[in-house]
Amino acid sequence: MQTKAYTRAQAPQEEQASSLTRRNFLVLGLGALTTVAAIETGVAGFMFLRSRSLEGEFGGVIKAGEIEKFPPGSVTEFPEDNFFLVRAEDGGFLAVYQRCPHLGCTVNWNAEKSRFLCPCHASSFDMYGNFLNQPVPRALDYFPVSIDKNAVVRVDTSNLQRRESYSPDQLTYAS
Ligand code: FES
Repeated sequence: MQTKAYTRAQAPQEEQASSLTRRNFLVLGLGALTTVAAIETGVAGFMFLRSRSLEGEFGGVIKAGEIEKFPPGSVTEFPEDNFFLVRAEDGGFLAVYQRCPHLGCTVNWNAEKSRFLCPCHASSFDMYGNFLNQPVPRALDYFPVSIDKNAVVRVDTSNLQRRESYSPDQLTYAS
């Protein structure tokens, strides 16, 4: 078995070297943590500024208007923002995405037939976006709606909700 003997003069040098290594390690670790924190702060700031810059346009939160502007049983198109704001007969709101889930064509609202119609392959959807005939296998997607204390309706177009079919819990009501 081999052993290593230290002279009194050697021991402090080795301790010093070990201490330097530990110090270097701590400095490097702190540097890495600071870099990660700076990157995270930068990313969070960018996301915040991006969502602020998209406020009021597609990809952000759209102020649709006051509740009274939308009578029960109505469908209002927001063509530049790519959705229809549906107000159900019971007063609930639903923001239906304009893109057909088949191949992405823009659907139109036909008030006479009370249907969304896709011009590309003739699919149709009811007022809530439920598909009625093939080739589309599911409902039109939708965006979350919120209604603030001043009765202003907003649609969050940054948060598309995929769905198979309509259900009443997708409606938003004024509190
Ligand atoms: Fe709408 Fe094909 S894109 S039915």
